[in-house]
Amino acid sequence: MHSTPSPATASAPALDGQGIRVEAATRRYGAVTAVEDLSLAVSPGEVVAVVGPSGCGKSTLLSLVCGLERPDAGTVAADPAALMPQRDLLLPWASALDNAALPLRLRGAGRREARAAAAPVLAEFGLAGFERARPGELSGGMRQRVAFLRTLLAGKPVLCLDEPFGALDAIARAEMQRWLADALAREPRTVLLVTHDVEEAVLLGDRVAVMSPRPGRVVADLRVDVPRPRVATDPAVVELRARALAALGGEAAA
Ligand SMILES: Nc1ncnc2c1ncn2[C@@H]1O[C@H](COP(=O)(O)OP(=O)(O)O)[C@@H](O)[C@H]1O
Ligand SMILES: [Mg+2]
Repeated sequence: MHSTPSPATASAPALDGQGIRVEAATRRYGAVTAVEDLSLAVSPGEVVAVVGPSGCGKSTLLSLVCGLERPDAGTVAADPAALMPQRDLLLPWASALDNAALPLRLRGAGRREARAAAAPVLAEFGLAGFERARPGELSGGMRQRVAFLRTLLAGKPVLCLDEPFGALDAIARAEMQRWLADALAREPRTVLLVTHDVEEAVLLGDRVAVMSPRPGRVVADLRVDVPRPRVATDPAVVELRARALAALGGEAAA
């Protein structure tokens, strides 16, 4: 799709590590067991979409992979990971550019240096002209783009994206799905993408991991052998969506 190689972001990491390996992980919060005996491996550069019912431990899985939580049993090993949290935590008083550049500042860059590094990334990913806008002046989709670019600029080989388009309407969501697929084609990362939208999972993932209700574990792992760009009406997409839904429903009925 991209005939000219796009400039890598200032902080594009090498994808030569181990990816993500979660083996028989259990995590409890008091009396609640969020995930139990959960195993999932993601190869470097692979995009795995995770679907599962509300409260089944999807966000907990991301916290484990990002090292924010430790498992009570089992093991979690992963290359350094950046988290795009379920709610976009953009600073309301800061510009889009300063919000995206935040991880560069946190790593010690001065304001000018961080802005200079982040500005071309914003432009490359369709936000030229909005550098100075505050989050409140942006559409929901644009805010999600800024939040995603902030996660990208953390410079980590692994991205953990927690329902990144959950708050968007259907049209903005479809647009953002295309945008994300394009962004990942330009800037490959090892990605764990949590979504409650099975169609979105099939459109974006190299694989779809289906989780059981709490305590969550992976009950189906479907490979998506559909060339990109993908469209929801492709019979292969429709069929995989049905298989993922069956795996979800089968668990819910069990
Ligand atoms: N920090 C926490 N303290 C207590 N309970 C938690 C915490 N984080 C998650 N849980 C509980 O663990 C379960 C799984 O939560 P979560 O991982 O957020 O699920 P999901 O993202 O799939 O909706 C839920 O019952 C939730 O209430
Ligand atoms: Mg969650």
